[in-house]
Amino acid sequence: PIVIFELPDGTQRKVTAGSGTVLMQAAVSNGVDGIVAECGGNASCATCHVYVDERHGELVGPPNDVEDEMLDFTAAERRPTSRLSCQVQVSDALDGLVVHIPEEQV
Ligand code: FES
Repeated sequence: PIVIFELPDGTQRKVTAGSGTVLMQAAVSNGVDGIVAECGGNASCATCHVYVDERHGELVGPPNDVEDEMLDFTAAERRPTSRLSCQVQVSDALDGLVVHIPEEQV
């Protein structure tokens, strides 16, 4: 599937994400700015924070419990559509997904 990362300045980066991987990996392996992912995907750093586009909130679903707690430690404000991109599993259903990268991660 193709996923779109929108940077704080409105620039969009379209990348191909592998099914069965996580969103954070797609960002990091394609050099998308603004996803720091300090902990490498363990839901313990909150530097891979994204805002799922309002239109896709239901598709992506809510965070799990560990992620939910970690989302209280994001550098940028937490919003109802906040997710840690390392906890979002990529599947074909997410083709065309848009996520917004926050202004700051650390
Ligand atoms: Fe650290 Fe996602 S990479 S919480």
